[in-house]
Amino acid sequence: MTGLTMPNIALIGLFLTHIRTCGASNILVSPLIGKGSHFYLSAAIGEQLLVRGHNLTYLVSNAFEDHVKKSRFGEMFHYEVFKHSIPVEDIHELFHNLSRSLSSVGPGNEYNVSKILFETQRNDCTAILEDEFLMTRLRSANFSSLLYDTTWVCGAIIGEVLNLPYFAVVPYPSPCFHTASEGSGFNPTYVPSIMTSYSSVMSFKERLINSLAFVIYHNLGIQVTIKPYKPICERFGIADPYDLMKKIKLWFVNSDFVAEYPCALPPNVIPVGGLTSRDPMQLSSDIEDFIQGSESDGIIICSFGTILTLDDSNMALFKMFVEAFTRLPQRVLWLVKTSPPFPVPSSIKILPWLPQNDILGHPQTRAIFFHGGHNSYYEAIYHGVPVVAMPVIADHFDVSNRVVHFGLGLKLNKDNITSDMIYEALYEVTSNSTYMQTAKRMSANLRNRPMKPAERAAFWIDHALNHGTDNLEISAEHLNIFQYYLLDVIAFIFLVIIFSVYFTIKCIKVVCSRICRFRNPTIKEKAK
Ligand SMILES: *[C@@H]1O[C@H](CO)[C@@H](O)[C@H](O)[C@H]1NC(C)=O
Ligand SMILES: *[C@@H]1O[C@H](CO)[C@@H](O)[C@H](O)[C@H]1NC(C)=O
Ligand SMILES: *[C@@H]1O[C@H](CO)[C@@H](O)[C@H](O)[C@H]1NC(C)=O
Ligand SMILES: *[C@@H]1O[C@H](CO)[C@@H](O)[C@H](O)[C@H]1NC(C)=O
Ligand SMILES: *[C@@H]1O[C@H](CO)[C@@H](O)[C@H](O)[C@H]1NC(C)=O
Ligand SMILES: *[C@@H]1O[C@H](CO)[C@@H](O)[C@H](O)[C@H]1NC(C)=O
Repeated sequence: MTGLTMPNIALIGLFLTHIRTCGASNILVSPLIGKGSHFYLSAAIGEQLLVRGHNLTYLVSNAFEDHVKKSRFGEMFHYEVFKHSIPVEDIHELFHNLSRSLSSVGPGNEYNVSKILFETQRNDCTAILEDEFLMTRLRSANFSSLLYDTTWVCGAIIGEVLNLPYFAVVPYPSPCFHTASEGSGFNPTYVPSIMTSYSSVMSFKERLINSLAFVIYHNLGIQVTIKPYKPICERFGIADPYDLMKKIKLWFVNSDFVAEYPCALPPNVIPVGGLTSRDPMQLSSDIEDFIQGSESDGIIICSFGTILTLDDSNMALFKMFVEAFTRLPQRVLWLVKTSPPFPVPSSIKILPWLPQNDILGHPQTRAIFFHGGHNSYYEAIYHGVPVVAMPVIADHFDVSNRVVHFGLGLKLNKDNITSDMIYEALYEVTSNSTYMQTAKRMSANLRNRPMKPAERAAFWIDHALNHGTDNLEISAEHLNIFQYYLLDVIAFIFLVIIFSVYFTIKCIKVVCSRICRFRNPTIKEKAK
């Protein structure tokens, strides 16, 4: 009921090494660049592939090499490091600039920084493919397959150039949106598109907007994420980047229908929502003592990942946070790289890094205040902790809408945020027991599965390496849009109906006029 304990995982591991039919293989993983949530998703799968006896090699960038090697995964995997197309300092500054989006009003800044990020990622791709030493090492490593994060199309390109079958991780919410080209049932009648605040029940107007949003965002997504890689594919003589998507053997979508709008997934799309959630480990004594000191009031976690960094532009925001936290009866554990330059009361503990999953699993944790990151969303659900979300960019808004829809907590708008609003939202989710009850119910549901998400992903990769995936793929890729939506069949049936009606009317007219001509003379004769 409460998930598997560590010894159980080890036992299953032992059991699996016995039932495995195919030998261990070398698997290459491209987790974007090795930063933050994208790395942790792929690393969670990698950890379970290790349990199954495989050998994992992660392709990370020189800007985040140290970061991944110092993480708890550092010793588990082998690493190959590629060099960014721009200096490492510029990469760090780029992410720092992105983090300042939190305190800027409106979407301008995010857009500008994202644009530079996308360009850099495309140039990084060329840099990797042109690095002959790196490519030669990758070629000679005898990899059986590649696992990559769909955020970076380059993953598929590397797989194609190395001639490897590839699997994909989709880190975002809305699984049917992201795998619609695979034949997922993205029906805008009951599946809300990304960047809409709709739920699964929509009015006519909402369904109309939702349908248009799907078409627009889907095409926009292709334009922004896929199209810039076209020249690279042409240059290296491989298929169009859009066609590479269709060659993905298995898709792992970081979603679970306990916290996502239900929709139909094809057999090669595997839901693995909650990849980074796991049972809590012992906390360091300073954190444990701080939590114990909160007594029955408990603690609240404030974690904006790497999105919140202190600088002059967001000092006011930091003051607001401190004001709100000070009024709460709970103590607050706050993740920030640098402490603010003004005094902070002892009920707030600022940490440059915190073991979020382990603290969420602590019985005295009452809520988490965060940016709507998808991994944190599932970690909160896994541990049954209510949330307050303040979205900043991209999928944070979709996650925040789900938070409200499923009754897990509340969302705040960063553009007109005040200290009172933060206090009130946190006070509401911690004092109104409805949120805790919902969180506990969702947690029990998410945990009641035969395998944990990362185990499920590793199992299916193993299965695919042994048996292939041809039997799992919906044969939709050969169909054009008319065939896919049966427009040709509908048009044909429609024509048949029109002809039948036309023919019937014609017949009735002919019969009628015959009868009339037959009758009329008699009438005329009678009249005579
Ligand atoms: C390459 O890996 C496969 C398993 O994936 C193994 O059967 C084969 O012996 C390996 N070849 C070399 C040259 O190491
Ligand atoms: C695992 O992969 C690395 C390449 O990244 C290779 O150097 C190493 O020999 C492999 N180990 C085994 C046991 O195949
Ligand atoms: C970060 O922002 C500053 C100020 O807006 C700008 O001068 C700088 O070029 C930006 N850095 C990068 C790498 O985009
Ligand atoms: C974004 O860039 C454009 C020009 O490229 C500039 O006019 C605009 O002020 C920038 N917006 C922000 C918020 O930095
Ligand atoms: C903040 O903005 C949102 C939408 O932009 C609006 O719905 C909300 O009422 C605003 N709140 C306040 C207190 O102005
Ligand atoms: C608790 O929250 C629920 C859901 O938002 C709401 O319907 C209910 O009225 C709240 N209860 C109290 C006592 O405020």
